[in-house]
Amino acid sequence: MSLSPSFLDELRMRTSLSTLIGRTVKVQKAGREYKACCPFHNEKTPSFTINDEKGFYHCFGCGAHGDAIRWMTDKRGLPFMEAVKELAAAAGMDVPAPDPFTAQRAEKAKGLHDVMAAAQALFEEQLGGIEGSEARDYLARRGISDATRRIFGFGYSTDSRTKLKTALKDFGDPMLIEAGLLIDPDAADDSATQARKRESYDRFRGRLMLPIRDIRGRVIAFGGRILGAGEPKYLNSPDTPLFDKGRTLYNIDRASPASRQSGRVIVVEGYMDVIALAQAGFGEAVAPLGTALTEHQIERLWKMTDVPILCFDGDAAGQKAAIRAAIRALPLLRPGMSLAFATLPAGQDPDDLIRSEGPAAMEKVLDSAEPLVDRLWTHEQNAAPIDTPEQRAGLKQRLSAITDAITHPDVRAHYVQIFRQRYDAQFFARRATSAEPRHQRGGARPGWQRDRRGHWKAPLPPAGNEARAIGASGMEQRLLRAVLASLLRHPEQIALHREMLSGLQIADSALGELLRAMVAASFTQETVETEGLLTILGQGEVYNMAKGMLRADTFTFTPNRMKTDSDRVQRDLEEAIRVMAQGPELETALAEATRRAREDLTEETFAEQQRIHRMKMDHDQRLAELAQSEDII
Ligand code: UTP
Ligand code: MN
Repeated sequence: MSLSPSFLDELRMRTSLSTLIGRTVKVQKAGREYKACCPFHNEKTPSFTINDEKGFYHCFGCGAHGDAIRWMTDKRGLPFMEAVKELAAAAGMDVPAPDPFTAQRAEKAKGLHDVMAAAQALFEEQLGGIEGSEARDYLARRGISDATRRIFGFGYSTDSRTKLKTALKDFGDPMLIEAGLLIDPDAADDSATQARKRESYDRFRGRLMLPIRDIRGRVIAFGGRILGAGEPKYLNSPDTPLFDKGRTLYNIDRASPASRQSGRVIVVEGYMDVIALAQAGFGEAVAPLGTALTEHQIERLWKMTDVPILCFDGDAAGQKAAIRAAIRALPLLRPGMSLAFATLPAGQDPDDLIRSEGPAAMEKVLDSAEPLVDRLWTHEQNAAPIDTPEQRAGLKQRLSAITDAITHPDVRAHYVQIFRQRYDAQFFARRATSAEPRHQRGGARPGWQRDRRGHWKAPLPPAGNEARAIGASGMEQRLLRAVLASLLRHPEQIALHREMLSGLQIADSALGELLRAMVAASFTQETVETEGLLTILGQGEVYNMAKGMLRADTFTFTPNRMKTDSDRVQRDLEEAIRVMAQGPELETALAEATRRAREDLTEETFAEQQRIHRMKMDHDQRLAELAQSEDII
């Protein structure tokens, strides 16, 4: 249905945005606007502004921006039309009549909602009645309190083929069939003729009934649990105009507001897990309906929190479901949005765990949830042996397949970087890095921490002011070689840059040795000729390396043909050396600024951290330009 722009304008005009938003977050008046801590990202100082006059909100921190309708869809998670309806009702406006087709569909949906509400009432009544005693005993045995029973709307379908059909006959068979409450035995059977038309009958018989509700709390489907042993354990409503299994999360109507309180969302596998969690005080749990998490469901979870925690069984099936969700999330990842994975003891679901060990044990499991990046890493580590070179290369290929699936460029770049670091540390650990702890296997998360709102914080670099040595990246290594080659060709330059050169810490021991020998030579002799320098370098490894670098095709920072322009050579070398030296320094400075901002987040510490971060980005770009410049041949 399309609504006219003038209707929407009127609706925006009649809605006080600050009042609307003020229901969810604390807003403060600031001049002609309102300020608040942004409800779309985690912050301590308000950068979220609301302008009632213009009817817009805007966050200077994360860029969240929109009007009243956008607020209802993005923050409250309502579909567009629901958002409009709710705002219109509050503003005392009538939503214009939809076109006939939509009207028909809306009418039908309304009818189906009425059917479902009637069925829900019937099931609840039956649970309270004489026929419901066995089901009530079952609930008692499972430790479900009366309050929980009411909150979740438990009901009972009697063991009869006609009970519901008769009780709700006013709606007519076709509607009861469309609502999924009756089974039409001829529907799937083309051979059925009118002559032998068979009777439709109740779908749910002799089962404990669990209503499945939409975000607005309306019953859209049922799950029916068998009381004793038998198949299937749960019988669910089929997909209907009201119910799309892949777009529904069990308990979304209650978990959504609860998640706003706790800043957390827990995803579990079963209905009963959600219910046990709620009874134990974890109101923010939802469950898919017996299927793997879909893209829709993941997006829906992200409307509630940035990093929902998937809490699946530790057995093979549960872990498979977890990794499936992880893979499915990859193309959807974007800044800030991720998944975390809490693993239960094998063979226990949250319901079992809470019953056997209490809510504290559950809290502990949730606390130890690991970030998506670690879950994927561990999974690939254990997916196949990694003992032979070929197997290790296979691991690398699998990790690449994961990063290739990530669509967002920044998120992908960080995954690539983290995987590469861990892979190199695992298989190519060098002397220079051997002091760093190697990544531990088995789900350990070195350094990762989660804050109160469930946001993951990356590990900080090791404490201390020790800057790392130069040559860690390919770019640095390339530039360093070019600089050394240039110095060999222009030995008179060594003395000019001596101070900076002697401060450089070189990762590669042979290159470091060559540089030290060159700097030493520049003290002891008037080393202005390449030949003279080579003589001083002697005949060992260092000499051989220098000779190799002087071969005609060796790249050099400033090519031979520039010999005449010694000013240019000096300037270029100076910049190249400075850029090299700055890399590790900036990293150390950034780590310190980040640590300071973490410890005490104020505007100043944040601004300082951002400033150094920008310097580091500029530096990295300049390094890449220099290392790839045409002059290096
Ligand atoms: P489980 O078999 O783990 O059931 O299925 P559960 O939640 O632990 O149930 P209880 O504790 O035995 O009562 C997990 C979910 O898979 C779906 C249901 O959504 C269930 O909650 N399921 C399971 C079905 O749809 N049909 C089935 O026959 C079984
Ligand atoms: Mn269970």
